[in-house]
Amino acid sequence: MPDATRDGARDGTRGSELCLSGKGVTKVFGIGARRTVAVDHVDFDFRKGEVISIVGESGSGKTTLVKMLLGLTSVTEGDVFFMGGRRDISTRRLKTEYWRGIQAIFQDPFSSYNIFHKIDAVLLDCINMRGGKNLPKEKKTEMMSEACGFVNLEFKELTNKYPFELSGGQMQRLMIARIFLLQPKILLADEPTSMIDACSRATILDMLLNLREEIGMTIIFVTHDIGLAYYVSDTVYIMEKGRFVEFGGADDVILRPSAEYTRRLIQDVPKIHEPWDFTKRASKALAR
Ligand SMILES: Nc1ncnc2c1ncn2[C@@H]1O[C@H](COP(=O)(O)OP(=O)(O)O)[C@@H](O)[C@H]1O
Ligand SMILES: [Mg+2]
Repeated sequence: MPDATRDGARDGTRGSELCLSGKGVTKVFGIGARRTVAVDHVDFDFRKGEVISIVGESGSGKTTLVKMLLGLTSVTEGDVFFMGGRRDISTRRLKTEYWRGIQAIFQDPFSSYNIFHKIDAVLLDCINMRGGKNLPKEKKTEMMSEACGFVNLEFKELTNKYPFELSGGQMQRLMIARIFLLQPKILLADEPTSMIDACSRATILDMLLNLREEIGMTIIFVTHDIGLAYYVSDTVYIMEKGRFVEFGGADDVILRPSAEYTRRLIQDVPKIHEPWDFTKRASKALAR
């Protein structure tokens, strides 16, 4: 396996402890003729410190699974286990507690913010959520500046702005600054780079992997792009029509796929063995 194709950030830190698991997790939308089984009895074991990718075509159920894992959508059937115990988010207090440990970044950064909140309020919220409500103002400013510094944003230039005044790439970086402050144990990243340009995309991925090193976070990375999954992950789960058709180490699954569906996804990425080149992807996208 040519190691140069993959970032060293993942090496040597594979955890063995489970942080998030599922047994028979299912989501059914609608009834009768409009019934859709979006996620169909999936089992999974995500381990601490790993980058896990969930890969599948559009409509395969990835976002629905993410929303169930985050507790934004109810689980129709099955069980979710978090940090060794059965997840209980049945009350508002338990849910808030759960969200201290698990956070998400979504595809569309514009939908992730309350548009009436200025950027410093967005970041202050994170500090408060982590129990920093009574910290002195200077300390809070210092923490916000540090978080912005981590993602190459200048806090002083942002304080009076609204999120929609930023570019897509800047907004996704602000999302990562939030995660830097919140320090969740698990980050769900649902196609976080699919709405931004190729250059920002590489930066965002690097920042996520660095942050994972910095705070020892587990990342669950959701994408339709199997090449990207290969680039970032330790473990890969392949999702087809609401089911996991294959999972395992990134090398095993992507270099030696056993499911026909995985082979099909790979055919779309002609040069998976070569170092990941974002400029090539960009020109390919433009050529379409
Ligand atoms: N709120 C909803 N109501 C009804 N059907 C939904 C809803 N959300 C998603 N679906 C359906 O569930 C399936 C999986 O969608 P989704 O989880 O968004 O897939 P992906 O993120 O992989 O593109 C699709 O058939 C979609 O139409
Ligand atoms: Mg989706």
